[in-house]
Amino acid sequence: MKAMRALGAGVVIAAALAVGAAAPAQDAQTVELPKPQMTGGRPLMEVLKDRRSQRSFSTKPLPPQVLSNLLWAACGVNRPDGRRTAPSAVNWQEVDVYVATSDGLYLFDAKAHALKLVVAKDLRAQTGGQPFVGQAPVNLIYVADYARMGRASDRDKDFYAAADTGFISQNVYLFCASEGLATVVRGMVDKAALGTAMGLRPEQRVTLAQTVGYPG
Ligand SMILES: Cc1cc2nc3c(=O)[nH]c(=O)nc-3n(C[C@H](O)[C@H](O)[C@H](O)COP(=O)(O)O)c2cc1C
Repeated sequence: MKAMRALGAGVVIAAALAVGAAAPAQDAQTVELPKPQMTGGRPLMEVLKDRRSQRSFSTKPLPPQVLSNLLWAACGVNRPDGRRTAPSAVNWQEVDVYVATSDGLYLFDAKAHALKLVVAKDLRAQTGGQPFVGQAPVNLIYVADYARMGRASDRDKDFYAAADTGFISQNVYLFCASEGLATVVRGMVDKAALGTAMGLRPEQRVTLAQTVGYPG
């Protein structure tokens, strides 16, 4: 596993992705995030006052520490038993957060607090039809893995996947309001096309996407 460094146009890249890395293939595609800072932030009531959707983004990249804090706030591990900052039905933890940057598509591994490279291509423009999605530094894609949801009916799986996504999204909204970042959660996504581009299994369903960046 290698640490990441900030990129000019994008957000992060794994030093291990450089040609010639001697690590095994799996390690070579894992990007270690800085340890999340779990203190600080603005008072909750002020953050709630400022929570809003914004649709104008700068291309300025997110520093690695900010991305790390953002992902921890979204659904990072906050207790020794592996539970998260966001609740999930039956503690299924079925919603994965994918991170689309100019460098590629990554899966957030909450347990390792790391990013795993999934597709080494810029898929940002495919995460939605609105013009800002291709320019903002980060688009989060929420993907529910129905295979993790036990024997619930399909209707219940749809409901819990949507509800559990909402908790993560709101955590992101609150983090962004605290940090002065812009964000908007998005349902207008060609989910089938995006799922294909991401190489998802049939049991993995895109629920929502969320753009994050500095206000433009
Ligand atoms: C489930 C859901 C889907 C949404 N989809 C989109 C979207 O595709 N594009 C967009 O610009 N905003 C989208 N929004 C943002 C809403 O338009 C926004 O939350 C609403 O207008 C209220 O504004 P506020 O978030 O600033 O309070 C979505 C919000 C939710 C909760």
